Formats: sequence, structure tokens, C-alpha cells
Amino acid sequence: MSTHRLVTVPLGERSYDIVVGDGALEHSAERLAALCPNGRAIVVTDKAALAHHGVRLHALIANAGLTLDLITLEGGEAAKTWDGLRTLTDQLLALGVERNECVMAFGGGTIGDLVGFAAAITKRGTGFVQIPTTLLAQVDSSVGGKTGINTRAGKNLAGAFHQPALVIADTGLLSTLPQRELRAGYAEILKAGLIADRALFERLESVGARGLSGNALIDAIADAVAFKARIVAEDEREGGRRALLNLGHTFGHAFEAEAEKGTLVHGEAVAVGMALAFAYSVRLGVCSEGDALRAQAAIAAAGLPVRPLDLPGGPYQADRLVTRMTSDKKNTGGQITLILARGIGEAYIAPKADRDDLTAFLKEELKRK
Ligand SMILES: NC(=O)c1ccc[n+]([C@@H]2O[C@H](COP(=O)([O-])OP(=O)(O)OC[C@H]3O[C@@H](n4cnc5c(N)ncnc54)[C@H](O)[C@@H]3O)[C@@H](O)[C@H]2O)c1
Repeated sequence: MSTHRLVTVPLGERSYDIVVGDGALEHSAERLAALCPNGRAIVVTDKAALAHHGVRLHALIANAGLTLDLITLEGGEAAKTWDGLRTLTDQLLALGVERNECVMAFGGGTIGDLVGFAAAITKRGTGFVQIPTTLLAQVDSSVGGKTGINTRAGKNLAGAFHQPALVIADTGLLSTLPQRELRAGYAEILKAGLIADRALFERLESVGARGLSGNALIDAIADAVAFKARIVAEDEREGGRRALLNLGHTFGHAFEAEAEKGTLVHGEAVAVGMALAFAYSVRLGVCSEGDALRAQAAIAAAGLPVRPLDLPGGPYQADRLVTRMTSDKKNTGGQITLILARGIGEAYIAPKADRDDLTAFLKEELKRK
């Protein structure tokens, strides 16, 4: 008997459930059937996820009593482009998708972001369901309704808020994930602890990334998701507090935008970004060095990078990174907004970063061994 946890994102008529567990797919056949009034499932799948878990996906659709229209895509950032969006939207229209149907995203965060955006704009909005197959997508990207693609100017700069109707996070799907991708997802669980849940952080610190399996993994995912659900419920469209979820992302996105294509994994960039956010908080005198070192130690203990020099895809330049940071979506009035921390579990929004000081800081950090 597998264990499941149910988390609800309370957003009035757009509320939805996240089913977390080993076997969550099989557990959710009835829910899925209820979301497919036309008796068919349109599934957009990551090629790798399909190769590993196609049998279970087909069984789920059959158990739900649905027919299947399958669209297979190559996962990864290359999927999140204008071309990818245009092709997918045309494919959905060719299948005659109707507004009351739910398009299903079966893959990692890249597939989920792309499918969500396509669902948001096709016929001015069809439903969609997230079936995340990476740890990062299960703990973070499948929840909260942020969808989008990358543009020449940077990551995720075109998109829409469009909430899924259901999220099925089956931890059994993670068994085939490469270690590097598992670590990247772990970074986002740590992020939840570092932002506002010291107890979760301390649990992760004592168990370590390697100890996270079985029910401990299900609980960590469900706790991280429940934390995100609370913040999304308070501030769905990121007018304020939701920006906290971007801890490590302002730095991280800048590295991703600067990195040689295909070299960097999102969670690795976020890991270094979180370490930098704590280091910069110490520089500003708002966070103790002890807490920053503890945060960095937990990141490093998971086998994640903590210094810019540990990141592939470089070399990076401080002024170019800061220029990238000025196009971040959190900014207002052309000023950089950072997410910093007063301590572990005490992240805060810091508007109007001093550009020169930030550049000087990054120059030092880029050399740190
Ligand atoms: N919308 C949001 O709120 C949000 C939040 C965080 C991150 N993101 C986005 O998520 C993306 C990163 O997501 P990701 O880390 O899942 O990357 P990804 O989608 O590129 O997946 C990582 C790799 O794992 C492979 N894969 C997927 N499932 C697998 C499985 N079960 N077994 C083996 N291989 C599998 C994929 O083919 C890919 O090569 C980024 O584009 C980031 O911007 C979005």
C-alpha cells in the first residue's frame, strides 16, 4: 500500500489538488477521467520520460477510460522557444482541442512550462494538467501556474499565469532520473526551507540528500509544495510575497542566460544563486556568517555547486551578469530587486540593489575558490 499526500492550492474557483506519492498516477485515474469530458486525453510528453515510463502512462489513460492523442517533444530548454510554442499550439489546434479539455504535460519543468503557456493561449485558454517527471518539476515548477518560454533577452520572459486543474507528482517516476537532475530538484526543496521553513531545512540537513527516499522523499516534496501553495494562495500573480520564491533565481537566471548553451542545469544555477544571496546578505550586514555558512554547507553536502567557479558553462563576467539581472521580472523602475535573507528561513525582498556594489561583490565571488 503506497502512501499519498494531498495538497490543495486554495484559489477559489481555480483551486486544485496536488497528489504526491509513489503510485500517484494509478491513484489518480478517476480524477483524470473527470477532467476529460470528451473521453480523450491529449498528452504532451518529454521523449525521455515516455521512453522510461510510457507503459505506466498508457495504463493510466486506459484505466481512466480515455483515448490518447500523444505529442512527443525533446525535453530541455530547447523546448521553451517561440518555435516550440508555435509548433505545439498548431498541433493542439490540429487535434481540435476544445476549451473544456485538459492538455496534459508529462515531463520535466521545461515541458510543463511550455505546455502550460500553450494551454493559456490556445483558444484563449484550455485546461491543463501537470504530471511532473523530474524532482524539480514535482517540488516547484508544476505548482503555482507560472508558464512560459525563454526569449533572446533571457529566461522565462514571455509567459502567462495559468493554473493547472490537477498536479500528479508520482515519486516512482523519479527512479530513472540522472543523479545530476535529482540534485537539481533537491536544490528547490532546500530553497523552501531556506526561505521560510527552518524546520524543513533542519530535517534536510540531518537526513542529507542521499537519505531522502521512500516516505521521507514524499514528505519533503509535499512539504515544499504545501509551502509554495500557501504563498501562491496569498499572492497568485506575484504582486508581493510570492517573489520570495525566487531566492537564488535572480543570480541563477543571470548565469543561465550567460552560460554556454546546454551546459547548465537550472537547479545548479539556483544552488549557486542561493549561496550568493546568503553571501551578499552577510556583506550587507543583515545575516550572520554562521547562517550563511550553514546554508552553503547544506547545498554543498547535496553535491550541488556553491561557488560560481564550480558552475560549468563559464567563464562568467560580473558586469555582464549584473546587466542580465537588470532584465529580471521582479525589478521595478529599472532597479534590481534581490531576494536576500536575515537568516535561515528568513528570506525577504530587497528592492533597489546597488549596482556598483553588486558588481564588485560578483567580481570577488567569481574568483573565489
Ligand atoms: N514555472 C515555474 O514556476 C518554474 C519553477 C522552477 C523552474 N521552472 C523551469 O523548469 C525548468 C527546469 O525543469 P527540469 O529541471 O525538470 O528540466 P527538464 O524539463 O529539462 O528535465 C531535465 C531532463 O530530465 C529528462 N527527464 C524528464 N523526466 C525524466 C525521467 N522521469 N527520467 C529520466 N529523465 C527524465 C528530460 O528529458 C531532461 O533532459 C526550467 O526551464 C525552469 O525555468 C519553472
